[in-house]
Amino acid sequence: MRTTTIPERERLDQASETLALLEHEFTSRSLFTERGPGRAVVTARGLSRVYGKGDAAVHALRDVDIDIAEGRLTAIMGPSGSGKSTLMHILAGLDQPTGGRVSIDGVEITRLKEKRLTQLRRDKIGFIFQSFNLLATLTADENIVLPLSLARRKADEAWRRTVIEAVGLQDRLTHRPAELSGGQQQRVAVARALITRPAVLFADEPTGNLDSRTGGEVLDLLRRSVDEFGQTVIMVTHDANAASIADRVVFLKDGGIELDEDRMTRDAIYDTIKTLEVTR
Ligand SMILES: Nc1ncnc2c1ncn2[C@@H]1O[C@H](COP(=O)(O)OP(=O)(O)OP(=O)(O)O)[C@@H](O)[C@H]1O
Ligand SMILES: [Mg+2]
Repeated sequence: MRTTTIPERERLDQASETLALLEHEFTSRSLFTERGPGRAVVTARGLSRVYGKGDAAVHALRDVDIDIAEGRLTAIMGPSGSGKSTLMHILAGLDQPTGGRVSIDGVEITRLKEKRLTQLRRDKIGFIFQSFNLLATLTADENIVLPLSLARRKADEAWRRTVIEAVGLQDRLTHRPAELSGGQQQRVAVARALITRPAVLFADEPTGNLDSRTGGEVLDLLRRSVDEFGQTVIMVTHDANAASIADRVVFLKDGGIELDEDRMTRDAIYDTIKTLEVTR
């Protein structure tokens, strides 16, 4: 009998995983009749996340169902400890739920093996963090195309120019992060998130480290990515001003969805935050 070498085994594993993924993608896609605004690009059912065990267990999420429509900007708000980061990390495939399922662009990520999940995150998800997370040794331009370089994909030149123009960094491309202002660094991060045209862009407190003017510029940019490029954006924020640019505001409390509203004014958001904090 011929012995199977390790690399061969890996290739076989990889091939069977790819087949399973394709099959799954095909069957889940048939649930959606068409693409475009209104289609749910992220779907979560019965999500729960428990940290720790026994008496020390913390129920960070309790049976959360949520659909995120394509081409809209959704803000996730709620008091500190209400589960915002936990929800975002699970929706983005950075953490696994204790119970429940998540699909992104028709692929159930809660069933994927780590390797496929990493690939899916790279291909379908963009991230913007509070602390920019740029690579200090790379120029702005190199940071922007990094997700493509990592995936060994070439940039579509027209799209690269569109994105760089949208974030207004044409004359800063050779600068390194240390030579850029906070607002400019975050604009590089927005461009980096948009360059792969992700199915969904997650932003965690994208204006948290910025003053209100530069924060406003980054918010304008996120809004434009939705209006002009049809980008789907999910933004976690504490800031009523930031959430007022959203098409939908979801408020969490104690790991559950407390309120889910279309477009809200800054004042209405502010009042809701106050009420949620008082009734904790
Ligand atoms: N790794 C962990 N281990 C144990 N408990 C955790 C862990 N991460 C989060 N928690 C708990 O889960 C709950 C939800 O946390 P989460 O970070 O999702 O809240 P949040 O809404 O993002 O809060 P904030 O606004 O302060 O960022 C909190 O009670 C928190 O203490
Ligand atoms: Mg958080």
